Amino acid sequence: MTQTITIRRPDDWHLHLRDGAMLRAVLPETTRHFARAIIMPNLVPPVVTGAQAAAYRQRILDALPQGSDFAPLMTLYLTEETDPHDVAAAHASGLVHAVKLYPAGATTNSASGVANFDKVRPVLERMAEIGLPLCVHGEVTDPQIDIFDREAVFIDRVLDPIRRATPGLRVVMEHITTSDAVSYARAAGPDLAATITTHHLVINRNHILAGGIRPHYYCLPVAKREVHRLALRAAATSGEARFFLGTDSAPHTDANKLLPCGCAGCFTASNTLSILAQVFETEDALDRLEGFTSLNGPAFYGLPANTAKVTLERSGATYPSHIETADGPVTVFDPGFALDWKVL
Ligand code: NCD
Ligand code: ZN
Repeated sequence: MTQTITIRRPDDWHLHLRDGAMLRAVLPETTRHFARAIIMPNLVPPVVTGAQAAAYRQRILDALPQGSDFAPLMTLYLTEETDPHDVAAAHASGLVHAVKLYPAGATTNSASGVANFDKVRPVLERMAEIGLPLCVHGEVTDPQIDIFDREAVFIDRVLDPIRRATPGLRVVMEHITTSDAVSYARAAGPDLAATITTHHLVINRNHILAGGIRPHYYCLPVAKREVHRLALRAAATSGEARFFLGTDSAPHTDANKLLPCGCAGCFTASNTLSILAQVFETEDALDRLEGFTSLNGPAFYGLPANTAKVTLERSGATYPSHIETADGPVTVFDPGFALDWKVL
């Protein structure tokens, strides 16, 4: 039986770090294991311009634990007013690695997102020219559409038309949750990739709703039926280059989760690697863990893989039940099983 696994240091291709006290509290949970992360721009107010992304990047660097060489890869929040020249300049300077599309109203702090997709066509065309990826929160916001169907409907109504209208646009389907998304990604060429979170490999909708409501398992896109979770596990462990890790670790204080109308988000930064090792081992795919966490993402983003390594040992992992922040505790995702793999 394998006792240690050594892989290149992983990257997280979808991460929420927030700002201020929350940033300072959660950042070490990611930098302990990860070398780089695509930083989500859904702050209040959102990170829309290159100048705002540069300032946010500096705040992250200022909050880094001593000695950390973690690199934040910045994104811009796409609005109907986004200036294609600003986007191109922020990309050319090496600051910005993706633009994030939130359909208006789809999730936390998405009010400034896109409602009329025709308005962002010039930005998308410019991005296709310069090879800058579009990271997509793939859910429709139409209240007529059942929340469990919003990803599949988004693919048909929004994503596929955008891709047809903008040949060459490089797209990341983020935090996919359905077999529909897996199939769509598989049918596309190398200009399309999909990230998968840690928690969607572990929970289905029963975890949220059966036997009592569990707000710490509530995130967006919401976890779906078991058949979809199994499709995600098959995709993540397949070794296919189009699938890679984006944890979507999204901290909210317990006070904001445990409400009559609580926030969406699972905080997985602290134990993601141990959980993933367990999932890949259960799927008899430990040899494919490195591809998912450390190789496929950089290849899509045109960056070198990390040269530093990380080793996991089969000696049992422990993790805190919550992280203390100046705003109150943030509960760490509980996978519901013991973790055999400890990150050394
Ligand atoms: C994210 C957040 O809290 O910012 N929440 C979530 O449930 N994933 C937003 C998002 O990525 O949808
Ligand atoms: Zn997210």
